[in-house]
Amino acid sequence: MKKHLIIGKPISHSLSPQIHNYWFKENNINGSYEKIEPENDELDNIVKQIKEKKIHGINVTVPYKQAVIPFLETLSPTAEKTNSVNTIYNKNGKIHGDNTDVYGFEQSIVNCELDLNDKYAFIFGAGGVVPSIITALTNLKIKKIYLSNRTNEKAEIIKKRFKFIQIIDWGKIKDCDFFINCTSVGLKKGDKINFNLNELSSDKIFYDIIYNPPVTSFLSEANSAGHKIINGRDMFIYQAQRAFNLWHNLTPKIDKNLIRHLFND
Ligand code: ATR
Repeated sequence: MKKHLIIGKPISHSLSPQIHNYWFKENNINGSYEKIEPENDELDNIVKQIKEKKIHGINVTVPYKQAVIPFLETLSPTAEKTNSVNTIYNKNGKIHGDNTDVYGFEQSIVNCELDLNDKYAFIFGAGGVVPSIITALTNLKIKKIYLSNRTNEKAEIIKKRFKFIQIIDWGKIKDCDFFINCTSVGLKKGDKINFNLNELSSDKIFYDIIYNPPVTSFLSEANSAGHKIINGRDMFIYQAQRAFNLWHNLTPKIDKNLIRHLFND
């Protein structure tokens, strides 16, 4: 039995076990996938089990995507660039860390047939996922990235790694083409980011990394104002597909049955 884990804190909300266990069945792989909520000082021992081949694959989520890096032996170029790891496995005898969030975000954009070439993007937030979003936007040939975060120091830390971004004071907005919520605001009902939609011209795209709830207040307000909205569901699915591919060397199917299985629709 090939054992897999997702580690994070909190972890109860994660749909990763559902998606991977579904694909194990579909592809006749004798695998298991569980979620656990370790403490920081347990990460080393968990990750070591990849080396010992007791665990086949690990996914990592908030808040451990950076914290696991000291325990890894090699990193993919994308993991290196973003300083963020969400997929771990044994590659040529070494504990290897990769980042499939960048691919997940990019593929979600491709899937919507959006062309971001020469467009302007505005990111809300400066948490762990943001380096992956900036990297994906750059790969998609975005022209300019603005970033705004409640705590300005955290925006400045991101800028040290990605010097080309421009920081905007929290509460202010720029008339861009593409707005992405990378904050955790919206996870709880009633949570909302204060910015003035009336300052924007029409036909923008609003993307929320959050997929549960499927329509956050960020998306709902944008929708009411006539803009296009996208939630984080496809990003979640595609990052999982790439992780599965790295672990099992095959690309599992994404189809209506899978969506129904995960989201009951
Ligand atoms: P981490 O910062 O540990 O990586 P995260 O969940 O990846 O955690 O990021 C949380 C993001 O949501 C941050 O950008 C955070 O802003 P701060 O840096 O100011 O904390 C943002 N966030 C969380 N709650 C918020 C709120 N009520 N209003 C505005 N931004 C909020």
